[in-house]
Parts: sequence; C-alpha cells; structure tokens
Amino acid sequence: MYNKVTLREMELKGKRVLLRVDFNVPLNSQLQITNDRRIRETLPTIQYLIDKGAKIIIVSHLGRPDGKVVPEFSMKPVADCLRMLLKKPILLSSDVSGTETYKFVRSMKEGDIVMTENVRFDPREMTNDAEFAKELAGIADVYCNDAFGTMHREHTSVCKIAEYLPSCIGFLVEKELQILGRALDNPKRPFVVIIGGAKIKDKISLISRMIDVADVLLIGGAMAYTFLRSEGYNMGRSIVEKDKLQLARLLLEKARTQHTKVVLPVDHMATGEFSFSADSVSVSTKKFPRTAIGMDIGPATIRAFKHYINKANTVLWNGPLGVAEFQKFAKGTTEIAQELANAKAYTIVGGGDSAKFIEQLDLQDKINHVSTGGGAMLKLLEGTDLPGLRYIKDKA
Ligand code: 3PG
Repeated sequence: MYNKVTLREMELKGKRVLLRVDFNVPLNSQLQITNDRRIRETLPTIQYLIDKGAKIIIVSHLGRPDGKVVPEFSMKPVADCLRMLLKKPILLSSDVSGTETYKFVRSMKEGDIVMTENVRFDPREMTNDAEFAKELAGIADVYCNDAFGTMHREHTSVCKIAEYLPSCIGFLVEKELQILGRALDNPKRPFVVIIGGAKIKDKISLISRMIDVADVLLIGGAMAYTFLRSEGYNMGRSIVEKDKLQLARLLLEKARTQHTKVVLPVDHMATGEFSFSADSVSVSTKKFPRTAIGMDIGPATIRAFKHYINKANTVLWNGPLGVAEFQKFAKGTTEIAQELANAKAYTIVGGGDSAKFIEQLDLQDKINHVSTGGGAMLKLLEGTDLPGLRYIKDKA
C-alpha cells in the first residue's frame, strides 16, 4: 500500500502551488473536448487548494506535440472547460515557464488560477531535464502531482521537479492508489478479473500478476485465441500470436499450479472475413471451422462470464472482449459492461478502451471506479514502479 505525502500535510495558505494534472483529454476535429472526465476528476484537488488560499499554477500536457508549439494541442479548450466547471476566471499563459507565465504568477492572489500552455511544447519535458525542472520550480513554492494518467512517464513536470520543491500527491492520485492498491492487496473475494484486448504480448505482466491475486480470470478478445490454440484447439483463421503460444501455455500452467481459475471462451461469433459488415454465426471452441475468424465471444461464453461476475465481490475489467470497434462485434463487450453496471460486486474498470466503452454506454455512474489511467493503471496493476510516485516522499 502507498503512503505518500498528500496535500493535507502541506502548508498551503498564500503559497504558489504548481499542480501537475493529466488534462490529456480527447478532442474532436473542431478542437472541442469530447470527454472531460479527467478534468472533472481533479476538481476536488483544485477546490481544496482554492479553499486553503493557495495560488494555483496548473500544468498539463495534451497530446504528443513532440517538443514543438503545435496550435492544435493548445490548452485553450481545456482552460475554457475548467473555467466553466469552476465558474472562475483562469488565466491561460501563452508559454510554459517563460515571461508571460512569470508575469501572471507575480500578480496572483490567494485562490487565483493560472494555467500554462502545454508543457510538452517544451522539448525538455520528455527528458526529465534538471534545468527545466529548476525553471518550473522557480515559479512555485509547492509541487503537487495529481496526474495519475501520466505517472508512468519519467518526464520533467511529473518527476524531476519534485527534487526542487516540497512535494506531494493530489486527491485523484490518492484515490486511484487507494482503490487499485486495495484490489491488489486485500480485495473482497471472490475477486474476478476480466482481461480482453488483441494481444497477449501487451499484457503478459498484467495476466501473470492477476493470476497471483485473483480467484478467477475471464479472458476474452483476440488474446483468447492464442490461449485456446496453446491448449490444442484449432482456431481457424482467427488472430493467433504464434510466437506467444509457449508463453500462453506457461501462464495457464502457472494458473493451474496456483489454483486460479482461468475461464476461456467456449464459443465465438465467427465470420468468413475480417470486416465490420461481415455476417457472423456462433461456433463452439471445440468445433471451430478451419476457414472462420473469431470476432467476439459467443452467447454461452457471455452466460459463463456473467455467472462469475454475479458470484464476485470485486471485479476488475480491462480490455474489450471482441472487435468492439465494429458495432456488429461489440455485443460481448456491451453485455459484460452492462452486467458489471448491475453487479453487487465492487467494480473497477480501467484502460483507455474499456473506460471509453463504459462512457459510450453511459454506465460510468454505475461502476464503482473508472480509472483515469490507461498505461499508468496497467503499470500499477502489473506491479511496476511508477516513476511519478518514486519522486514523492512517503509520509513520516
Ligand atoms: C495517457 O493518456 O495515457 C496519458 O496522458 C499519457 O499520455 P502519453 O501516452 O502521450 O504519454
């Protein structure tokens, strides 16, 4: 369990607080924000800082401008959104640690908010650069990291800066660590983990760690075909990672040894071609046609997965269970998402695709915790040390 210094332990009145957030939100072609959840999730931290009389300097990245000023990645839509949510003026500086930011910060009063331009407009952000860290630290008295979604990046405003200022985590990071940490260390059992997605190779460490901590692992998505193939089933022309068959076998062997139940699909919706409009039929794992391609989990598998979800006290879900970007093959993912929303268990959803799916179905209020982290959440669940956390001290 983590025990990092939080805002509660900091002296904040009248102090300039550099608040690193992850406002890397999706934008449409008109540069409008299509999902503001990452912004809303940091409001408790910002409100606390306002109430304590801090001067708040908000720093975030947006997209991957690669160290150059790219107007499409300006923080402007984000500043507009935050202004609206807080019903408060916010000054957006046209630079990051340049003369305009200095000028704005110098005239701040308690409770004021200044947002800098996209921190990734500066090429030194991505290199954890000491000079840039000192420059950023020069405009503040306290550093607060509330950028959970970026904790896995060893970047200057996420890591190095903490060497030059009294530092702490914000309430969003604290919440994510508490909830995900509890699921890993002391989940209410039975603990069921649902893992989907295309490739085992992206989730080897996650699957291995989940075998250690979960009671039941439900596996869907294309990665299930590799597991099934490794058990000797013919999966027709479905996507199978041939170079990962041995690894899949080892993971299943590990699960058997540790008495963690792994449930693989018993049936599938299969097509003759990989296309969004192809017609599909349900086929069983045991009689999978040689020319068919698996696109989604089938009805018997959906029933089986629901059975385990309903017996669980904690459920964690990461990754789509079929080719969910094609509407025709999103049924398995949709039904499992709906089952989670109605489950009595404590439910956690994480990873970009699964969280997006929950929001498309408007189920976010029925899930106990939808993590704001994609890559960061996976790293935390895998047991990988998050660089952003390494730089913040533990409570005394
Ligand atoms: C994310 O959306 O996962 C974070 O904001 C990190 O973004 P990055 O993958 O561009 O570093």
